[in-house]
Amino acid sequence: MRIVVTGGAGFLGSHLVDALMDDGNELIVIDNLSTGNIANIKRHVSSQERFSFIEADLKDSHWTSHMKGVDAVFHYAANPDVRSSSVDPRKHFEENLVSTFNLLEAVRRYDIDYIVFASSSTVYGEAREIPTPESYHPLEPISIYGACKLSSENLISTYSRLYGVRSLILRYANVVGRRSTHGIIFDFIRKLKLNPRELEILGDGKQKKSYLHVDDAVSATLHLFRIMRDGYIRNDVYNVGNDDWISVREIARIVTEEMDLGDVKFVFREREPEGRGWPGDVKYMLLSITKLKGTGWSPELSSAEAVRRASKELIQGFR
Ligand SMILES: NC(=O)c1ccc[n+]([C@@H]2O[C@H](COP(=O)([O-])OP(=O)(O)OC[C@H]3O[C@@H](n4cnc5c(N)ncnc54)[C@H](O)[C@@H]3O)[C@@H](O)[C@H]2O)c1
Repeated sequence: MRIVVTGGAGFLGSHLVDALMDDGNELIVIDNLSTGNIANIKRHVSSQERFSFIEADLKDSHWTSHMKGVDAVFHYAANPDVRSSSVDPRKHFEENLVSTFNLLEAVRRYDIDYIVFASSSTVYGEAREIPTPESYHPLEPISIYGACKLSSENLISTYSRLYGVRSLILRYANVVGRRSTHGIIFDFIRKLKLNPRELEILGDGKQKKSYLHVDDAVSATLHLFRIMRDGYIRNDVYNVGNDDWISVREIARIVTEEMDLGDVKFVFREREPEGRGWPGDVKYMLLSITKLKGTGWSPELSSAEAVRRASKELIQGFR
């Protein structure tokens, strides 16, 4: 297949690119390198075989001609920083919603068959049902990032119903692993490199969330994509996460253990109500993956195993 991956030079996108290339597809990566890194896709760029990289911003429209003849789009470009979305809503609106709209217009214009969208657990807000199933209502995001993801989902579903593009919306839990440049593990390692005796933790450390290793995330994504390609999914939503969760304090313990630091003083910065890390931080997140498992897929690593493996990978790659 001829496939476009937006955000394909980023963390999750580049792992997806590797797997789609291994499957023999022809790939076009569109990325503005705002948080992505060309090094993540270096081996494909230099081989030039079945691969092209377009440095472009989805907020513009200069890239749309590259969508001609494309069979499927994996839309992974976004500003992934949940925290900054409460500080600069317009930026997030443009980067996470206007970009999606521009992409959908190109999908419509070139009559592309499939779209896969990287949505997020943040669409559920503070769910009262845990584990949270896809059918949970009302969807009340508490961050601008989550609101943009939910609005993008709505746009995609409507384009699907109106114009016939098959769509797969994936609500990921926290994805961790090598090449990641944001998120809790990366943040802890960065802080501990600066001061190995003390670790500042945002919130009360009792926040509990579900984590998935990037290899599992990519494997689930391609598993569901194949089901869509075989004609069993027309316009559907799946949670992509783990069976369990882990607290922030436990993550801090694993990271310090993997860095071999001995006793580290944890300093909790509790500035937000109810022990949250920042405005818009969902304190408890565990997605139900019953629907995903019903398709015959299960994660290889638990949340704690994913965090430990990601810590090892990130410590190794940290400069
Ligand atoms: N990592 C997670 O835990 C997680 C969880 C849920 C959802 N997601 C979603 O998965 C996707 C990938 O996230 P990630 O963690 O790999 O982040 P990332 O920052 O590594 O990747 C995002 C990529 O998009 C590119 N990009 C951003 N704005 C762009 C624009 N306007 N035009 C073109 N390219 C642009 C960036 O340069 C980067 O390469 C995002 O949509 C994110 O919201 C991630």
